[in-house]
Parts: sequence; C-alpha cells; structure tokens
Amino acid sequence: MNRTRGEAVAAVLLLLLVACGGSSSNPQGPSPTPTPTPATSADPLRADAEASGRAIGAAVQSSYLGQADYAATFARHFDYVTAEYEMKWDPTERQPGVFDFAGADAIASFAAAHGMRIKGHALLWHQALPAWVTALGPAELRAAIRSHIQAVVGRYRGQIVAWDVVNEAVADDGSGLRDTVFLQKLGEEYLDLAFQTAHEADPAALLIYNDYGGEGLGAKSDAIDALVSRLRGRGVPVGGVGLQMHVAAQSRPSSADIAANMRRLAALGVLVNVSEMDVRIRNVAGDLAARLAVQRSEYHDIVAVCVAEPACHAVTFWGFTDRYSWIDAFFGPDDPLLFDESYAPKPAFFGVQDALRRR
Ligand code: XIL
Repeated sequence: MNRTRGEAVAAVLLLLLVACGGSSSNPQGPSPTPTPTPATSADPLRADAEASGRAIGAAVQSSYLGQADYAATFARHFDYVTAEYEMKWDPTERQPGVFDFAGADAIASFAAAHGMRIKGHALLWHQALPAWVTALGPAELRAAIRSHIQAVVGRYRGQIVAWDVVNEAVADDGSGLRDTVFLQKLGEEYLDLAFQTAHEADPAALLIYNDYGGEGLGAKSDAIDALVSRLRGRGVPVGGVGLQMHVAAQSRPSSADIAANMRRLAALGVLVNVSEMDVRIRNVAGDLAARLAVQRSEYHDIVAVCVAEPACHAVTFWGFTDRYSWIDAFFGPDDPLLFDESYAPKPAFFGVQDALRRR
C-alpha cells in the first residue's frame, strides 16, 4: 500500500533532522568536563545511531543537567532529547495565559549546545493538566487548547523537530477513546484541533500521536491504528506514531508483533518511533547478573526491530540512568535503564549498541 511513501517521508525527515543541527560530533567534547567515569569511555551510542540512520534519545529533567556526570553521559551518548516533564501543560501554563518556559528553555539550550535534536512532549494529555483547564466549558476549552498549543509550539518553532501532540487518547481496553475532559467536552474532534493548531504553529514539525500498551498486536493497537487512519483520512496532519514501550522483561509484546504493528502504521503513511522505552526486571528470576543479561537481550531485540523497520526513525528511552527513573515510584524499585546509578554502562547499553550495529 503506502510503504514507499512512508520510506520517502523517513528520508526527508532524516535530511531535515540533519539540517537542524544533528551532528554526532561535538568538537568541544561534552561540557562541563567531569572526572572520567566508565560512561565517558564507552563508545558513544549516538555515533552508532547516526550510522544506523536512527535518532537515539532520552527523556531528561533540567534540574539534573547541572550535574556533571549526568550531563556528560547524556551529551556523549544521545543526539535526541525529550523533556520528561517540563514541556507538559501544567509546568508551562499553570495559570491561564501565564507561561513559564524556564525548564523547557534550559533543555532546549542544552540540546543546542550539544548538537541534539528535540522532541517536544506532550501538548495534550489528560495528566499533568492544570485544574483550571478541567473546569472550562466546551468553547473555552477549545480556545484554551488553541492558545496553549500556539504558545508552546510557536516558542520553539524551527527548534523542536517533532512534537507528541496528543498523548494516551485511546482507552486501555481498546474499546474507543479514553474518557477524558477533552473527549467529554469536544468529542473526537479535539484531536483534529490539536494537530491542526500545532501544524499552524510550526508547519515543519513532525506531529506525533503517542501511546502505551499498543506496541504489539491487539485490541489497543487496533484502536490506535484505526484512530490514525480516521485522522489521516480527514486530512489531520498526524505524521508519526510513538510506541511508548514501558515494558517488563519476559512479558513484553513479541518482536514479530512489534514489527507487524510498525508496518501497518507505516502503511497509513506515518513514521513510527519507540518513544519512552524502559525495561523492568524486578520480576525476572535469578541473581542480578542473570536479570541484567535478560534485560540486555530485551533491549537488543526491541531496538533491532526499529533498526530493521524503515518507518522507525528514532528510539527514545525514558531516562538513561537508574539513578533517576519514574519506574521506582510508579511500579516499585527497579533498574530499568541503560546506565547504573553511577553512570556505568550496563549490559543493556551494550545490547542497544549491538542492535544499532546490526549485530
Ligand atoms: C511521567 C514522568 O516520568 C514522571 O516523572 C511524571 O511524574 C509523570 O509522567 N507516559 C508518558 C510520560 O507519556 O509523560 C510519563 O512520564 C510516563 C508515562
């Protein structure tokens, strides 16, 4: 069907990303310069990612970027950055019309200083939503969505290459759209409004629908596929789908199903990306070394799917060091990321490296 078109879009996006400053080498080296750590002697992941034609990203928080080891590890290994929190509605517009871009600007400056591209996250989400938005009637809600998206996307026009425009709009059981304030007051058309407004604010940005639980095949990914198909069918400018990939080792969707899902999305004419990957191992049997070995193969196999699928242009992890992960608070203590708490690369890091090297 439309595979060729998806590939053409991927090629254009790659050119655009490179033109936007995504050089893998930083002549000055990471800055500030820390005491050498194991992470700073491992081969930079971003060089392997560039060679594979994929962007390699992580979610960060601006407050951590002032820590030398955190900043040096991040700058050395990643060429794509997402704000874990600071570009959401609540931190950016806590009161109507009063914008605070301090955290978002700090992340954008770090990205510019280190030749990284930026993916914005997330314009419309039922969480991190200020109470004043929830209280609005339909007409006011429509106006608030427009002015919020115009302000946030407009501020970073030309600097942010891709946006998660709508996050988690599909119900967990795939029965339809999630019952949110947006759906209740505006119906499905709230998605049209969000994507159209974002497109007006930055016509060059790749506009993404992002969700979890629809990585493989099943009711939820069927519903996401159907939603994207309806949106594109009525001319809504959705150009990408993000598969969050918060998974538990040994109970994740199969690689074959993830690949099949990516292909059917590509057939709709959109790019895909792995947008928030982390791999929980607390329920894996065995000692720590055994659990880390399982985690390595899970990371390897999932990243390998992206590297093998032409429509998959980026992999973003939801953090990079086990020192700072949302998993500990939301799912219980774990070690879900690529670097340990002291920034040493874990087996998982080398699994990703191998996948990017097509090994
Ligand atoms: C999470 C952050 O990691 C937390 O720090 C924050 O408190 C809540 O949000 N899906 C998403 C992300 O799209 O925005 C969420 O991030 C994790 C689940």
